[in-house]
Amino acid sequence: MRVLVTEPQPGKGIDLLKARYDVTVGQRGDYDSEERLKEVIGSYDALLSCLSTPVTGEVLRAGEKLRIVSNYAVGYNNIDVETAKELGILVSNTPDVLTEATADCAFTLLLSVARRMREAEDSLRAGEFDGWHPFGFLGTEVSGKNCGILGMGRIGRAFARRARGFGMKVLYHDTAQLSEADEKKYGATWVDSVDDLVSRSDFLSLHCPLTPETRHAINRERLAMMKPEAILINTARGPVVDEAALAEALHEKRIGGAGLDVFEKEPKVHPDLLTAPNCVLLPHIASATRETRARMSALAASSIISHLEGKPDDAIPTLVYRRES
Ligand code: DGY
Repeated sequence: MRVLVTEPQPGKGIDLLKARYDVTVGQRGDYDSEERLKEVIGSYDALLSCLSTPVTGEVLRAGEKLRIVSNYAVGYNNIDVETAKELGILVSNTPDVLTEATADCAFTLLLSVARRMREAEDSLRAGEFDGWHPFGFLGTEVSGKNCGILGMGRIGRAFARRARGFGMKVLYHDTAQLSEADEKKYGATWVDSVDDLVSRSDFLSLHCPLTPETRHAINRERLAMMKPEAILINTARGPVVDEAALAEALHEKRIGGAGLDVFEKEPKVHPDLLTAPNCVLLPHIASATRETRARMSALAASSIISHLEGKPDDAIPTLVYRRES
């Protein structure tokens, strides 16, 4: 059987696949276009894709032998899941194994923006440090503040644990309310609308998937509802935020700051964000620890192996949908 891995990755996943199948490993960028994928996909039984791999309906339809697409990421908005369903092609992702690393990164952004770390460090590196200063880079405390979480899945809950640990009050909104036991466990209070969450948060962290409903969930109107000192953190997906509207709000100092790991049109970053005050920008690294990336690799490969070995869908916990039996 043949497996296409779009680009090298840390961890043992590719070796696990090579021990069993005829594996092609592309180089970075080789399979980032729909055209190129369409040309080659017909001869493969499985595809191990990355976020930059456009697994469109056309690509899936060109995959005459294709049985499973395993995405090296928890998010899978690069894959046309509806078409995959129609064609009976399985889709899997890498949940759980990256939860802690991603929540760490989101909380690092929160603290960095709250305490103006980037500006302060830039100033020191520019030779401007002239000793302790009563007014030097005054930031804002996190303890006692309202920490709003939009999307209370695995990563949202891991972020809530961190926020509680720092003495914050956790508010959240999602498509469904947590059980009473979970609300207690995470010390989290349900807020029944996004508007309410946005307007009550001192810090607002986004942990929802990108769907038609969440695209531009943080738009101009909602940015206008935020408190003047509020800080927005996004480690979910760029298009959840209207980037142009956010850049404008930051430049006009209508909100306190932003920490972003994801962007609307990656790898492009809105030029006005690059010059915006109190903004920490990272190149989509939230899951980038050696340990996490190795776990993602093993998990992505194991989903392919399980399926090609004939395991039932129920035995593959990473599937994003299950076929009707
Ligand atoms: C994901 O997994 O969806 C991240 O954005 C990349 O690791």
